[in-house]
Amino acid sequence: MNHDFRGTVALVTGAGRGIGRAVALAFARAGAAVACVSRTEANARSAVEEIAAAGGAARAYAADIASSAEVNATVEKALADFKKVDVLVNNAGITRDGLLMRMSDEDWSAVLRTNLDGAFFFTRALSRAFLKQRSGRIVNISSVIGRIGNAGQANYAASKAALLGFTRSVAREFASRGITCNAVAPGFIETDMTSGLAAEFREKLKAQIPLARFGAPDDIAQAVLFLAGPSAAYITGQVLAVDGGMTM
Ligand code: NAI
Repeated sequence: MNHDFRGTVALVTGAGRGIGRAVALAFARAGAAVACVSRTEANARSAVEEIAAAGGAARAYAADIASSAEVNATVEKALADFKKVDVLVNNAGITRDGLLMRMSDEDWSAVLRTNLDGAFFFTRALSRAFLKQRSGRIVNISSVIGRIGNAGQANYAASKAALLGFTRSVAREFASRGITCNAVAPGFIETDMTSGLAAEFREKLKAQIPLARFGAPDDIAQAVLFLAGPSAAYITGQVLAVDGGMTM
């Protein structure tokens, strides 16, 4: 086993599918109990079932991460169910792409509310428990787009860049209590989020990736486990690009 998380509890947002699901499964395989948060009950449950089938322990929580009330209630429930949380992975995120000139107020704020506010709400809700136990690992899922920008994704790029500033501030604020906060910046990963890209555009993207392929959700999961595990105890406030070399 590369990572040993036996006896720990990981809370993963957006665990119903894609990268979040791979992260939740990887934690479970490494021995952690997992709180799977997803917008829909069905998705959260199906992640829990897959984990249970693989012999792991998990519970499902349906919540809209853009609502601070729902996030607070979810964290309260998870802490009551598991008695503690050791790792928070702020993974859930959305895109609402469009050229800036025509971008609606709604598309702008929906992306910021989910991708940025969601991470803030969960981090705040768990901060008391982390500070009290004088330990905790926070991993935020940003994006290469937060570093290099992208035409048609001003809202998404802004949210993912903001997450990096958030990561560094949280890292500084909590460091003296043994809590670390880092970010993973995935490149293009094969999930529902990227499956709709036109074939021609995919080829163009691949030409910009030195490793010449899209990544798999588990490529991100392994980086998250590293940052959440004992090997990364002296790493905080960092951004780990997992992008096939795209942004080197
Ligand atoms: P996905 O669309 O397959 O999954 C996103 C998950 O987040 C879903 O389970 C969805 O239900 C959940 N979610 C969205 N809004 C929510 C809300 N308001 N409340 C609760 N849950 C909500 O996306 P994917 O590809 O797995 O992405 C995961 C994260 O990785 C996102 O933050 C995304 O921005 C980021 N990312 C993905 C890349 C990719 O190429 N797939 C590249 C870079 C970053």
